[in-house]
Amino acid sequence: MKRLLLFFAVYSPLLKVCSQSTNYQTYTANSTRIEKGKKGATAISPDLFGIFFEDISYAADGGLYGELVQNRSFEYGPADRKDWNYFTAWQYRTEGFGYGNISVETGEPLHPNNPHYVVLTIEDPGQEGIGLINGGFDAMAFKAGGVYNFSAWIRQLSDAAVPLEIELRGKKGAVLGKTDLSTQSRSWQEYKAVIQASAQEDSGYLVVLAKGKGKLALDQVSLFPGHTFKQHRNGMRDDLAEAVAELHPKFMRFPGGCLVHGDGLGNMYRWKNTIGPVEQRAEQKNIWNYHQSAGLGFFEYFQFCEDIGAKPVPIVAAGVSCQNSGGTWRIGSTGQKAIPMDEMQQYIQDVLDLIEYANGPETSVWGAKRAAAGHPAPFHLQYIGIGNEDRQTDAFRQRFRMIYDAVRAKYPDITIVGTVGPSPAGEDYDLGWKFADSLAVAMVDEHYYEKPEWFLSNGRRYDGYDRSKSKVYVGEYASWGNTLYNALAEGVYMTSLERNGDVVRMASYAPLLANVKHTSWNPNLIYFSNTGVLRTANYYVQQLFASNAGDVYYPGVVAFRSGDTAVAASCVKDSRTGDVILKMVHAGPGRLQAAVDLTAVGSAGGNARRILLTGMPDARNTEATPDIIIPSESSMQAKKKFMLDIPPYSLQIIRIGKAKK
Ligand code: AHR
Repeated sequence: MKRLLLFFAVYSPLLKVCSQSTNYQTYTANSTRIEKGKKGATAISPDLFGIFFEDISYAADGGLYGELVQNRSFEYGPADRKDWNYFTAWQYRTEGFGYGNISVETGEPLHPNNPHYVVLTIEDPGQEGIGLINGGFDAMAFKAGGVYNFSAWIRQLSDAAVPLEIELRGKKGAVLGKTDLSTQSRSWQEYKAVIQASAQEDSGYLVVLAKGKGKLALDQVSLFPGHTFKQHRNGMRDDLAEAVAELHPKFMRFPGGCLVHGDGLGNMYRWKNTIGPVEQRAEQKNIWNYHQSAGLGFFEYFQFCEDIGAKPVPIVAAGVSCQNSGGTWRIGSTGQKAIPMDEMQQYIQDVLDLIEYANGPETSVWGAKRAAAGHPAPFHLQYIGIGNEDRQTDAFRQRFRMIYDAVRAKYPDITIVGTVGPSPAGEDYDLGWKFADSLAVAMVDEHYYEKPEWFLSNGRRYDGYDRSKSKVYVGEYASWGNTLYNALAEGVYMTSLERNGDVVRMASYAPLLANVKHTSWNPNLIYFSNTGVLRTANYYVQQLFASNAGDVYYPGVVAFRSGDTAVAASCVKDSRTGDVILKMVHAGPGRLQAAVDLTAVGSAGGNARRILLTGMPDARNTEATPDIIIPSESSMQAKKKFMLDIPPYSLQIIRIGKAKK
């Protein structure tokens, strides 16, 4: 104790108080009250740390979405990628001296939104049958004893029924599980079967074999793991969804990113195309150079948000396409295309219908569709974003305004998030803010991808933001890399978001997910293969901040002797639990000491959990060494005033049980 007093006496004039008291008007949200006598405490956003989901780098199809069959509805094509066609990811199989022919056709389709299907004519099935093989997304992984749900839509085109055998096969052709079907109808009918895999296989594939003469049409051929996240039909890949859930995000933004406004008007994301029976959803090119099956659509997004306890934050296009549409962007020109004015009323109606779909009663037109999908209760939508990084043109402003006015008029309780360009500064940022100011938009979406040093030297960015203007959603940010140093630089910055949690209402690292074989963008928070999920150092920083968030910020609780911008701290309280949470981040070398004084928090200390994330600055988790950077936990006794050791390159969380008065 003596040493502690001496430390405060000698060093207090030199201490750089890490979390300066702000004079800004305290923000009171969600009936959080600043406790009387707790000087400088600020109510901060209870929704601060969330996630950004975009279907980029095969995050949806071939990723979070559980479907194992690639191009299940034969809708891939050169519009997705020059070398793709309707039969991409499939092979025609005629082993065993069978013969016949195969074609892709469009007459009398299963649904107009799903125009292509395969016709298989079997002249002689030979010894083994003839049919189709699908190798999934870089093969299919089967678990020993795992159950798989097969389904397909079939139209029998011959008089005689066609017997079919459906098989799960291993890399070398071994049959790991199979089932038999026989066609029964001359009109489209869905057939379902369950197949169990007898052995584990990481390089498996699906075979659909016709074992008798005849002719049939085949579409929407699907294979799902029997076990999906929360056991939903048309559900999510369990291990990946679990990794996302373990981030404990307060909200989830979806479906993008650039995917939202799309590559030209025809590619704009239209949420209505993504709901209803999967075989009736309209598929389309993915702006990241592949295909969107829309199997993971707006119902699934809302349901997933509910499952993981995250508030849904859907983003809709502001009536204009991406400025980089067609790859035409040059300085002074733009590929941004605007929805014609005579189509805007319908577009605006779609946005209003989205809110009704999420929140309307079962008796409403769109609420009824949600109920029909299996969710009669509302999804409690609170936020909607209009636009993504759009070029600030007159066409954009005009359309944004129209959507904005309509949403505000019909749904005044919904918080609208506007957009201020792709960078932390520059023309679109300035014009975007000017426009947001003119409309008093509730919140704007800032994006920045920068070097780690940028994050270390911009910790004061929001200190000077005018609290009377729009609040901020940092919708996309990341430092360029997945080393511990990158992650800690983000952590240092995140303490500044907490300190400014009265004006920065939400923040999400981006992008969230990437398939290791199809990364359109680096870095990402989580990398995955068909069999593994890799949590990066950045992931753990996000997880530790989100699961140790608070709703009141206390300045001046942690003090250092260093004036280094690579060191930062924050102190928040979670009013729900009464826990006081300290975060100390050090993105530099050398050991430091911090002086903690809980007086202002009204805490005398107590039992505390100490979580530490540390390692070599250039260390990163890899497939071969996934656990180099992982948090470790211990317990400690925190006093009202105490000294704390801060290791080099570390994030440290001290969570002190219920504050005593
Ligand atoms: O996160 C990747 C991309 O970065 C997003 O799609 C876009 O909004 C941003 O430019």
